[in-house]
Amino acid sequence: MINKKLVLAARPKGLVKQSDFLLETEDIRELKENECLIKTQFLSLAPVMKFYMLDGGGFANPLSIGETIRGRGVGQVIKSRNTSYKEGDYVSANFGWQEYLISDCVSDKMMYKLDDHGLSPSTALGVLGVTGYTSYFGLYEIGELKENDIVLVSAAAGGVGNIIGGLAKIKGAKTIGLTSKPEKAKVLLEKLSYDHVINYKTENVDERLKEIAPNGVDVYFDNVGGEILDIALTNLKKFARVVCCGRISTYGDEKLYEQNYRLKNWHLILGRRAKMQGFFIYNFQPRFREAHDKLLQWIKSGELNYHEDIQVGLESMPAALNRLFEGKNVGKQLVKIS
Ligand SMILES: NC(=O)c1ccc[n+]([C@@H]2O[C@H](COP(=O)([O-])OP(=O)(O)OC[C@H]3O[C@@H](n4cnc5c(N)ncnc54)[C@H](OP(=O)(O)O)[C@@H]3O)[C@@H](O)[C@H]2O)c1
Repeated sequence: MINKKLVLAARPKGLVKQSDFLLETEDIRELKENECLIKTQFLSLAPVMKFYMLDGGGFANPLSIGETIRGRGVGQVIKSRNTSYKEGDYVSANFGWQEYLISDCVSDKMMYKLDDHGLSPSTALGVLGVTGYTSYFGLYEIGELKENDIVLVSAAAGGVGNIIGGLAKIKGAKTIGLTSKPEKAKVLLEKLSYDHVINYKTENVDERLKEIAPNGVDVYFDNVGGEILDIALTNLKKFARVVCCGRISTYGDEKLYEQNYRLKNWHLILGRRAKMQGFFIYNFQPRFREAHDKLLQWIKSGELNYHEDIQVGLESMPAALNRLFEGKNVGKQLVKIS
């Protein structure tokens, strides 16, 4: 049997190019005791992968040239010499961008067996995985969401954002989503429980916010940073909470990433007696089970919808990563490998 994998060939500049990667093949060796062989079914794409390819972004060691690109995935055990994982089990793990994974089942602390809940295994990378937990803890814990709050969400139609409309509605709050395309706006309003959508490319965000929420917003869930964060700061209610989840507007362009964006309106945090807090989802790891069970319960009861964007084939991974920076993904970006 042969494994195919994508390794880093060059550090990308701007959007990634096919020449930044090499497609390598290797024979799949025999399993040692306690190992299992897993066939990759879906791989997850996340903006943070760009950091790994550049310099680690302060989260992790940068990838070395020649190293398999890191990333989470789900797959099915097809051979096992481990008593905890048997053939046919579905697992979530740090697969890397490859078609097969040999795991010793201990060194990856984030490897686990999926529950048989009747949903696609891909959900373990989206709504029922780290992405969904980011929406859940970001909104409820960092955003301290309350009934009747008005929540503004940037990259609302992205992986984290697509779940927030439903989570807010469940607690009796209202949402305003920011996005760049009419087709995404339609999905947000018709499927994902958003109350209002602003197209930040074609509309004046500040004016529209003042029409929709003349007294300001209670929570701003920030996935993008930069200029949109600056506009949001001028539209906060007293005692508002700003959830600093991500800042994708500063990841794509090497120069912006180096210089970063200087906020003009940060002083309003004081005037509005607002709170602004960053968070790293793995700090909530001991409570992942709680989030998983709640999210599953709400999906089953029909209170929570989610959206996945599935591309196909290992070779399409670089283009799928670019889709995040080009605003092409609708919902959680995944690639189906087998
Ligand atoms: N704090 C944590 O622990 C944690 C965990 C997971 C993710 N995150 C962060 O959360 C954010 C969302 O992650 P995700 O995986 O769900 O990605 P995502 O939202 O699916 O990211 C892609 C979307 O970002 C928007 N976007 C891209 N470039 C932009 C720009 N220059 N300005 C404004 N918007 C832009 C686009 O949406 P539109 O077309 O609608 O603009 C695009 O579809 C990211 O910043 C990520 O780094 C943080």
